[in-house]
Amino acid sequence: MAELVTRRLRLRQWRDQDAEPFAKMNADPRVMVHYPNPYLRTESDALMMRFRAAINANSCAPWAVERLDTETFIGYIGLSYFADGLPFAPCVEVGWRLAAQHWGQGFATEGAIASLAHGFDELGLDEIVSMTATTNAASERVMQKIGLVKKEGNFMHPRVADGHRLQEHVLYSMTRDQWLAGLFKIDHKS
Ligand SMILES: CC(C)(COP(=O)(O)OP(=O)(O)OC[C@H]1O[C@@H](n2cnc3c(N)ncnc32)[C@H](O)[C@@H]1OP(=O)(O)O)[C@@H](O)C(=O)NCCC(=O)NCCS
Repeated sequence: MAELVTRRLRLRQWRDQDAEPFAKMNADPRVMVHYPNPYLRTESDALMMRFRAAINANSCAPWAVERLDTETFIGYIGLSYFADGLPFAPCVEVGWRLAAQHWGQGFATEGAIASLAHGFDELGLDEIVSMTATTNAASERVMQKIGLVKKEGNFMHPRVADGHRLQEHVLYSMTRDQWLAGLFKIDHKS
């Protein structure tokens, strides 16, 4: 089971102790403003169990993220596999969600670069995508900072209701060739 260590972060398997801070983050309206709703505790726990089972099965799922300096759980970053349910599926997405007190310090960028390196260099993926609601400028900025390229045209997320403010999404991607060509290359351990 892969565990990634960057300069300031550990991306690791989920532990029982993560459930409480994860639920607190998922219930925070600031964190969830670009999602249809904050999560109930049961929804948060179910998501954590899904991520944990997928990692145990060696499938792609976001890792729990912990700061190395404080050993505090701060959220998730990592890869997710979508077999279907999106116009461009099957695909692997890189995604992130961090507790608000840890924003603005480059943690999402740092963990996302390590996730790209894992996806391309260890898993041999051909492409990694990332998507977010058009309202989510911070998330879109992370996509740009890690070198993803915006795809032409936005798409309507099939799991968001018609007419909902979060339905329109941007889509970014990086191909394996772009990664290997060093179009974007940062030493994620430095
Ligand atoms: C998106 C998120 C993970 C970013 O985490 P982070 O650790 O703060 O990200 P980073 O510090 O690596 O980079 C954030 C970038 O977005 C920029 N940014 C932040 N808020 C912004 C806003 N409202 N508009 C435009 N840019 C914004 C920051 O300035 C920074 O860019 P810069 O380095 O060029 O200044 C965090 O805001 C979060 O968890 N949000 C809630 C959950 C979420 O929306 N997840 C994504 C769903 S697709």
